[in-house]
Amino acid sequence: MNQYDFTGVEEWNRIEGWFDLSEAIAIQKFVKQLPPGANLVELGSYKGRSGVAIASVLPPNGVLYCVDHFQGSEEHKKSNIDTSNLLETFTKNIERFGVKDKIYTLQMSATEASKKFEPESIDPILLDAAHDYDSVKADLLNWYPKLKPGGYLFCDDYAPNWPGVMRAIETVGLEGKVIAASLWMHNKPVGSV
Ligand SMILES: C[S@@+](CC[C@H](N)C(=O)[O-])C[C@H]1O[C@@H](n2cnc3c(N)ncnc32)[C@H](O)[C@@H]1O
Repeated sequence: MNQYDFTGVEEWNRIEGWFDLSEAIAIQKFVKQLPPGANLVELGSYKGRSGVAIASVLPPNGVLYCVDHFQGSEEHKKSNIDTSNLLETFTKNIERFGVKDKIYTLQMSATEASKKFEPESIDPILLDAAHDYDSVKADLLNWYPKLKPGGYLFCDDYAPNWPGVMRAIETVGLEGKVIAASLWMHNKPVGSV
């Protein structure tokens, strides 16, 4: 299977994670419109649920950089979620869905990964790594300059049960809207940094 188009969504739904089907379909609409050779970044890949949805519809020669330290998040540890073998499970899933050759995996912190990208080189960026206020704010400040003018920034879990996510976005002062479930989207104005 080279092009998973969500006609067999039951299969994709077996990938554990926190990316809602409506969010997957919404972000796919934007990804499908990207030009050939687009560079995309996802912060927080877990077992590949969102990554498979995005990589399945990349334009020709498009690349999705999946950034995750694969140690699980603080909230996973508090909820006793088993985060062992995350990288292995992620890798198996992207192989199983035929998108491994479109994904470049960066096993490192979101902050460390941000240093590897040139300013205004990415479109779009999906933020879904740590969910506490300080981390989300740091991710926004580190990654927003990397987004191309006119590009899209998506943040998952923009919802009252994740107050750190909402507050960080408000503190940084980005305007946006929820486009599906808790997926928030901002369109970077042309001419800003
Ligand atoms: C909510 S999960 C991501 C869910 C995923 N997008 C999905 O579709 O299911 C958050 C992920 O972010 C990773 N993570 C948390 N803090 C991070 C950080 N500071 N740098 C890199 N990865 C981080 C965790 O290891 C975890 O896999």
